[in-house]
Amino acid sequence: MMSQTKTILSSAGLNGEIVVPGDKSISHRSIMFGSLAEGTTRVSGFLQGEDNLSTLNAFRAMGVEIEQCSDGDLIIHGRGVRGLQEPVDVLDCGNSGTTIRLMSGLLAGQSFFSVLTGDQYLRKRPMGRVVNPLAEMGATIWGRQQGQCAPLAIHGRPLKASTYHSPVASAQVKSALLLAGLYADGETTVYEPHLSRDHSERMLRHFGVEVTSFDGGVSIVGGQSLHACDLLVPGDISSAAFFMVAALIVPNSELLIRNVGINPTRSGVIDILKKMNGSLELTSQRVMAGEPVADVLVKSSALKGIEIGGEDVPRAIDEFPVISIAAACAEGTTVIRDARELRVKETDRIAAMADVLGVLGVDVATAEDGMSIIGGEQFCGGSVNSCGDHRIAMSSAIAALRAKAPISIEDTECTATSFPNFWELLTQFNA
Ligand code: S3P
Repeated sequence: MMSQTKTILSSAGLNGEIVVPGDKSISHRSIMFGSLAEGTTRVSGFLQGEDNLSTLNAFRAMGVEIEQCSDGDLIIHGRGVRGLQEPVDVLDCGNSGTTIRLMSGLLAGQSFFSVLTGDQYLRKRPMGRVVNPLAEMGATIWGRQQGQCAPLAIHGRPLKASTYHSPVASAQVKSALLLAGLYADGETTVYEPHLSRDHSERMLRHFGVEVTSFDGGVSIVGGQSLHACDLLVPGDISSAAFFMVAALIVPNSELLIRNVGINPTRSGVIDILKKMNGSLELTSQRVMAGEPVADVLVKSSALKGIEIGGEDVPRAIDEFPVISIAAACAEGTTVIRDARELRVKETDRIAAMADVLGVLGVDVATAEDGMSIIGGEQFCGGSVNSCGDHRIAMSSAIAALRAKAPISIEDTECTATSFPNFWELLTQFNA
């Protein structure tokens, strides 16, 4: 297939209102937990991104009936915790780390065999982080590179509960173990160095499961049932972040982004941009199906460089590509530390963003766990490559809105994984 190149021009200002699509993490979990529940779950605001459709297809392949309504809602006919069927073929997780890692935990405790694979990018990503702790629970999982890489072949079997100290703050690791813990005999506890996104905990509770969160970790007792419920998926703060940065860096902007999920384990980007002197105001704060939501009003701002590290990193982990664009527009130097995880995302995002910023004339230095960006100059134009990573493609497009000359972005189809209408929304603000 020919890769698609988009050329983006500068913007005279982002004004008005937008609504971003549903949260990717919450949408994945809505299918998984809805499928395991007793009864029928209706999901409104589901993200129809490619990653989520990989999860949807995988559960259909295990016998779950999922209706896609004309208004975009899903109706999931849950089969109960023990109701999934052996899939007759390999389950293709596409580009989605959340699909493959959470499903590894879930499938480890089934009474059947399954195989998980993904695209060329996913097959390079580390799976040992879930395979190893699951093996401690008694799971039998084989994979390439001694179980470190997909395809993964899972021989489901009874599991024993365990206590695991995760070396990384990862919601995918935590959630995989909580899902395995649902099938294990006894109480499974996961400790993590910093709190990662807690959508699994919140949604499991919404489905009537007892999950105990405490300082430093979370526990679940096996053998519990899930009860169907209605879910409302808030807008994805990770998608909203592109337009937050756009409105901050493009002069004459005042943009209202409606219905944004502001779960504190995800809202690091708002705190970071505020620390950079960004004008972001949260209004109409409310709670939707256990998740906090707000409208976010963003105005053009004179940003300044800051230091970012520690517990703010997992709270903004997917936003660093676009934060690096904000940093390049800020006065002074921004230093990002403690972000080694960026090296193992859809691509190595430290290397990929350093390449993009380099082409755009920004002075940037990388470290193993982050980067320093000297801001202040306007981007020059040029041609950059997304490396097949949706967030690198979209961050480059945001930079183009305040560049001196057009920026061409190669390999842009990948934005469909998380933000199918990104280019359409962006066009409204292009000069
Ligand atoms: C996700 C967790 C994060 C995040 C990813 C989605 C999730 O990954 O980067 O986009 O839905 O649990 P890690 O768990 O690897 O940090």
